[in-house]
Amino acid sequence: MDSIKNEVKTYPAYLKGTWQESQSHETIAIQSPWKHDVIGNVQAVTQSEVDESIHAAKAAQKPWAKLSLGDRGQYLNRWADELEATKDEIATAVMNEVGKNFNDAENEVQRTIDLIRYTVQEALHMHGQSIRGDGFPGGSKEKLGIIERVPLGVVLAISPFNYPVNLAASKIAPALMAGNAVIFKPATQGSISGIKMIQALDRAGFPQGILSLVTGHGSVIGDYLTEHPDINMISFTGSTRTGKHLSQKSIMIPLVLELGGKDPAIVCDDADLDVTADNIIKGAYAYSGQRCTAVKRVLVDDKVADELVAKLKEKVENLSVGSPVNDSTIVPLIDNKAADFVQGLIDDALDKGATLVTGNQRDGNLLAPTLLDHVTQEMEIAWVEPFGPVLPIIRVHSLDEAIEIANKSKFGLQASVFTQDIDKAIQIAGAVEVGTVQVNGRPQRGPDNFPFLGVKASGMGTQGVHNSILSMSREKLTVINLKR
Ligand code: G3H
Repeated sequence: MDSIKNEVKTYPAYLKGTWQESQSHETIAIQSPWKHDVIGNVQAVTQSEVDESIHAAKAAQKPWAKLSLGDRGQYLNRWADELEATKDEIATAVMNEVGKNFNDAENEVQRTIDLIRYTVQEALHMHGQSIRGDGFPGGSKEKLGIIERVPLGVVLAISPFNYPVNLAASKIAPALMAGNAVIFKPATQGSISGIKMIQALDRAGFPQGILSLVTGHGSVIGDYLTEHPDINMISFTGSTRTGKHLSQKSIMIPLVLELGGKDPAIVCDDADLDVTADNIIKGAYAYSGQRCTAVKRVLVDDKVADELVAKLKEKVENLSVGSPVNDSTIVPLIDNKAADFVQGLIDDALDKGATLVTGNQRDGNLLAPTLLDHVTQEMEIAWVEPFGPVLPIIRVHSLDEAIEIANKSKFGLQASVFTQDIDKAIQIAGAVEVGTVQVNGRPQRGPDNFPFLGVKASGMGTQGVHNSILSMSREKLTVINLKR
């Protein structure tokens, strides 16, 4: 399946159910963020190949939707089995391609296997509703409405680099279980991991054309996919900038967007500071902070700030830094541009008077975990999402001030509240403008059966297995007019 050229594999695209080289005769080199070598080439698919794939998806969708849920579930369970059989190979691809440490990469693949199996079970247990017309003034009992859920058609699934397997499957699995066909466009850095995952799907023997994987230049096929009249729904995870662009380009089709975040950890003066520090460190620095749900700012009551900063400093200095093969927490960022961006935010904060508690060393795209104290609202790091291993501490003097700064952000993904007073936690949870509030825990998407959503610039629509199936299907009402 993979042809070997100079020991660097060139991966075909999966178009209309077959592995093919693109007619463009052009490939894109994928460089490992930590090996700094080209680790593979992927196809630069053309617009006409996209068009043919969407055509094939449209044709394959109707018979697919006619299969029983149980039959569709069997295909997906076989896919999960195939992923399980190649778990290490896929985890290695994730590690090599996006620099996630092997343990986290393996967890990502296992989480995906679990997610696919759970999605099958969830879909099997979802059902429609019925409604009688007499509930509305002037309505009659003889009107019986049957509400079923039907597929949307062809779903475009666009996944990001940081979860190239899990955030792809969390779109593909619900789309397929809901009876849709899928066009899968992975982030270019992440394509090889996506290909490995789709090789497993191919081995599971899905009907031809039900899913195509299109790799290529966003500038060539990005808008073409988004504006294509036969794409019926888009599920996207990535930057807020691209999400906004997608919502401008797609016309009258449902969109689910999972975008950026600036998740605050609000630390009250009565918080258990050991629990707090532990959660903040794991939340902020795992995978070098390259997660939309990372803790991206700490809003701490000045009364406990010194003590918290001391605990954080000790933990930051104990984080493992280096190579993903050694299971380091802090790994090289996805590319040099990303590292330059984070460094710029650190430099700006230090220029404007922030205190460097620890960190601020750099070796290429590997940045030491950095902790900044006395960050003020004038500093870019107070508002901008770094997607890197730097955490700003903003000291506040009241709960109102913490809530005000939390809500001043354009983002609204998650927030954490650390307090031992449940009334206070509920009060803050009610006041912060985010999709999810975590009380005494770090922000995170999982467990994957929970609803996952962002407000403001953090997204649109809700994910999580149940909600993803809902968002990839629609209601269809049939009214039986019974004889009186
Ligand atoms: O980067 C965005 C992901 O949805 C975050 O997922 O909270 O499981 O790391 P996570």
